[in-house]
Formats: sequence, structure tokens, C-alpha cells
Amino acid sequence: MDDLYRENIIDHYRHPRNKGHLEDPDIHYHDVNPFCGDEITIELKLDGDRIAKAVFDGKGCAISQAAASMLTEELEGMTLEEVKHLDKQFILDMLGIPIGPVRLKCALLSLKVLKAGVYGLDEWPE
Ligand code: FES
Repeated sequence: MDDLYRENIIDHYRHPRNKGHLEDPDIHYHDVNPFCGDEITIELKLDGDRIAKAVFDGKGCAISQAAASMLTEELEGMTLEEVKHLDKQFILDMLGIPIGPVRLKCALLSLKVLKAGVYGLDEWPE
């Protein structure tokens, strides 16, 4: 089963979904992982309080970039209130493979950037 998840991560890394920029995003936030310098930008277009379109840009390791790609797929249609409740476990379930402590920040970088952009919570998600 792990193999399927691993293949999915590699696929998202090699063929990222929703990668790029929006013309006129309602929310735009960029940050780096201070431990390695890898970076993620998240941009959202809103329809009321609902996410109509989510894109990302960035460079870095396979886990950080694949997690960002997968996260943008999950975000469309979600409300900003729902974003507040996304946690570490949501990302780990999405990735589907065991993530050791060293790679945890790779996995969580895009969610950290998202939450900082949506409601200014600039902390590593728990
Ligand atoms: Fe930098 Fe993974 S090694 S985010």
C-alpha cells in the first residue's frame, strides 16, 4: 500500500497540479522552511468565503512540493472556516506514508503557508 502512496507523491512532484500564479488572487502568501530554504507560495481566489481556485508555486524537496500540489486539489470548494480546522493529521493522511520527524516540516510547509495567508497564524500546524 505504501508503494501506491509513494508513487502518488512522486507523480505530484513530477507533474504538480495547480502550479503557477493567479492573475488577481484574493490571498497570496509566501514562506520558506527555515531549516532548508525550500519555499512555497499559495494563492487563492475566493467566492465569498469559499475557495474557488487554489494554486501554488515553489521549489524544494519531493515531499514539500507534492504536499502543496495535493493540498491545492483539496482546497477548491472549501470554506476559509474549514481551512482553520486542517491539521497535521490531514496532511499526513493525504500523503499516506510514514513521515519521520526530519521530514515533518517538509510535509507541513504548504499548510503552514496556507494558514498564515488565510488568517495570519504563522506557526507550524499541529
Ligand atoms: Fe526542505 Fe523538505 S528538505 S522542505
